[in-house]
Amino acid sequence: MTNPSADNNPKPINTALNKPIVSLRNIGKQFGKVVALEDVNIDIREGEIFALLGPSGCGKSTLLRIISGFETPTTGELLLDEQDMTRMPPNKRPVNMVFQSYAVFPHMSVADNVSYGLKMDRLARDEINQRVSTVLEQVHLQDFKDRMPDQLSGGQKQRVALARALVKQPRVLLLDEPLSALDAKLRDAMRLELVKLQETVGVTFIIVTHDQSEALAMADRVAVLESGRLRQVDTPSALYQKPVDAFVADFIGRVHTFSTTQIELNNEGAKIQTTELGTLQLPIHTLPPGVQAGAQTEKGAVLAFRPESVSISLADDTSNNASHDALKLPGLLGDVAFQGQHSIVEVTRGDAPSISAIVDHSALASLQDKPLGTPVIAHCDQQNLMLLPDTLK
Ligand SMILES: Nc1ncnc2c1ncn2[C@@H]1O[C@H](COP(=O)(O)OP(=O)(O)OP(=O)(O)O)[C@@H](O)[C@H]1O
Ligand SMILES: [Mg+2]
Repeated sequence: MTNPSADNNPKPINTALNKPIVSLRNIGKQFGKVVALEDVNIDIREGEIFALLGPSGCGKSTLLRIISGFETPTTGELLLDEQDMTRMPPNKRPVNMVFQSYAVFPHMSVADNVSYGLKMDRLARDEINQRVSTVLEQVHLQDFKDRMPDQLSGGQKQRVALARALVKQPRVLLLDEPLSALDAKLRDAMRLELVKLQETVGVTFIIVTHDQSEALAMADRVAVLESGRLRQVDTPSALYQKPVDAFVADFIGRVHTFSTTQIELNNEGAKIQTTELGTLQLPIHTLPPGVQAGAQTEKGAVLAFRPESVSISLADDTSNNASHDALKLPGLLGDVAFQGQHSIVEVTRGDAPSISAIVDHSALASLQDKPLGTPVIAHCDQQNLMLLPDTLK
């Protein structure tokens, strides 16, 4: 996400080397009987865009509110710049929050909205003017400073809310679903704008979203939460390519899963028994954490692969020498959806779930003139098969 050529205060190229600015240690939060968060440990590094991602109700907003100080954790501690802030009131913390419904004051102009917090802090007039003008430029609202909120578009109101938070020069900016009130097209444009803005100001951004494409597109690193528990913290590409379990694999992009009944380690790797695919011998020598060899329960492990790992051949095409493919699933050609760079081909398999394959134009050529229902084979090679703990509900 880093653009080293951007603007006057470029972001360090490798935020992985930066020290943690926010550390969450064993954070738990209960509301009566509801466990909203359980033993969450995360280090967020200075200068990164960090996303909290997960389905509705998984505890994202609660975690953000704990960082902001609007909520106190039931257990654990929160460090900001290595200082314990667990019980520090919100206004004493070097953080600022942009809310889900960006509340701008309707009776104040853009400039007055932005300067309000600084006036409350009793800063000198010159400094206020200077800071407001810098921040309005950063959010491209310098020509709108005298407008009232009802004369602004949704995207412009969002930028006022951002300016109001940034003008206080926080060390960390917290954004709860900052783009959810915008329509789809504006949301895409604002994603890029937020990333550019972060590169300009260099402030650490922690963004809450339930939209995985938003998190993957914007963030340097993403924490995936489910039911109050942290599943994985990683870069977008690592989350996609090396998910730690079936939940993460399924939440980040699309995945096909097959349950396993038994896994045995042997000299060649692992012998994996499945109900649907029979027995497979795969060169997996160490099982992922959470998967044990020997007797498996139904909730043990799944064999998983992504649609872009699937190739498709005609069932009567003997020239296809795919003997290295670990999986060959016969089926019938279903719908083909053109997506520009590639197409998504469905392979139907009677009562079994159909398989989707993402194929490029050359791979599609042999299928193009074939009628729906043509017998085909979906292939996946060994290296693209993932063995994951079954954490799907
Ligand atoms: N003040 C509260 N009192 C009681 N329960 C609460 C309170 N705030 C949150 N919860 C519960 O805690 C859990 C986590 O809520 P939270 O708002 O953090 O979820 P979220 O991940 O932000 O969801 P969404 O994507 O829908 O905004 C939910 O089960 C929610 O009902
Ligand atoms: Mg929320």
